[in-house]
Amino acid sequence: MSATQEGAILVVFGATGDLTHRKLIPAVAELHRTGLLKRPLRIVGYARQDLDDESFRDLLRQTVEGEGTDAVIADTCYVRGDFQDAEGYQRLRKRLAELEKDSHSAGRVYYLAAPPSFYTDIFRGIGEADLAKEDGGFRRIVVEKPFGRDLKTAQDLNTELHQVFQESQVFRIDHYLGKETVQNILVLRFANGIFEPLWNRRYIDHVQITVAESLGVEHRGRYYEEAGALRDMMQNHLLQLMTLIAMEPPVAFDADAVRNEKVKVLRAVRLPSPQEVPHLTVRGQYGPGDLDGKPVPGYRQESDVPPDSIRETFAAFKLKIENWRWADVPFYLRTGKRLERRASEISVQFQRAPQRLFPREARLKPNVLRLRIQPDEGITLSVGAKVPGMRIELRDVEMEFDYDAFGRRGTEAYERLLHDALIGDGTLFTRKDEVEAAWQVVDAIERGWQQEEAGPEIYPAGSWGPESADELLHHDGRRWHLR
Ligand code: BG6
Repeated sequence: MSATQEGAILVVFGATGDLTHRKLIPAVAELHRTGLLKRPLRIVGYARQDLDDESFRDLLRQTVEGEGTDAVIADTCYVRGDFQDAEGYQRLRKRLAELEKDSHSAGRVYYLAAPPSFYTDIFRGIGEADLAKEDGGFRRIVVEKPFGRDLKTAQDLNTELHQVFQESQVFRIDHYLGKETVQNILVLRFANGIFEPLWNRRYIDHVQITVAESLGVEHRGRYYEEAGALRDMMQNHLLQLMTLIAMEPPVAFDADAVRNEKVKVLRAVRLPSPQEVPHLTVRGQYGPGDLDGKPVPGYRQESDVPPDSIRETFAAFKLKIENWRWADVPFYLRTGKRLERRASEISVQFQRAPQRLFPREARLKPNVLRLRIQPDEGITLSVGAKVPGMRIELRDVEMEFDYDAFGRRGTEAYERLLHDALIGDGTLFTRKDEVEAAWQVVDAIERGWQQEEAGPEIYPAGSWGPESADELLHHDGRRWHLR
């Protein structure tokens, strides 16, 4: 990773929110500590609360944790303003000009950490105050998810965004792309000669992608009630993982080449009709249950959730990618909250050997390549082997790679993504056409769900989700590897 050449300013819209203290300040501190930011990166917070520089810093000091964060906080400034208030943006403009007069800055990154309902106001505010023009440095914008709530709203948002910024200035975050284990998918596939010849419908039986969380919705009931698992996780994180597994080799490892291939995957996903949706998807909602031996409430008992909510906290899909590489290879995707444990994994199951040569060979499991995204990061390939001895006895064994082998910690997703936005590398961010193609898939499923009379299937907290999710695979003679 190259170090950024010049200092810059990070303007955080919605600076008093959760994200600033949980992710952004610790990420900036760590980038300083590891020497990846050669010159100061100054944070300017923008929010509605009536604060000044000092009281903003005090607020951050109360909540931010982590080594080196004090120095970052001591250097932050604050501009008070409503997202719809032109004067606020003028104050911001003035403040930025002052800061840039004092010390040279290579440019600015505007970071949208505000509620998504304000995104359009912020784009307009930035545009009207002429803050996007690249005079005297770069101007980039980082947009947090969710990017819209369906295809139409995402397209509208893109139109608004492009009134002010060009696509090359836009960095749409999907923090899964910043994870070390996710970046490693492309390295595994394209830096090793052995996988590519097998990576297709001739040798792969199916692919499973699971992102399981043991946490519930916590204090985010209001947001979650709008989003559900479909918009919160499927539209972005799971579909992104799928694109990395399914894409063609890019012509280069750069933002456009990589994203060109990813978007092709999304466009090739077969969109189910509303009538097909019940057969290809499952939605569930957690009821009360036990996790780690402790009773936990159901989703409907969480704060800010209506007692008759039908919002899904679990979703499973069976998708088909209609192209030469993947025709007829199912991709099973599954995500849920309050599942038995936190575990994210992609497993690629290969077809069995075409002929059985050995006694009881049928008892062997098929070869499965498991990419453990988190926790316990690593990669396992299961193979059949001969148990030592005179008899031919077969057993499944695992070849294992563990990230501990490197003896060093990886970069946190937010550090990586902030760094990349600062150097202008969009490879790990989602492009306009990509985000829209992902919504197209999600919209097709949502349309089907809206026509269903039954709501989500209730599963006990602490389980692996609704039974129908198991049936989705049993029906095809398969089962989930992770459980
Ligand atoms: C976020 C979702 O994008 O990802 C959360 O909004 C979810 O609901 C989180 O908990 C999971 O991220 P991670 O990195 O903990 O797997």
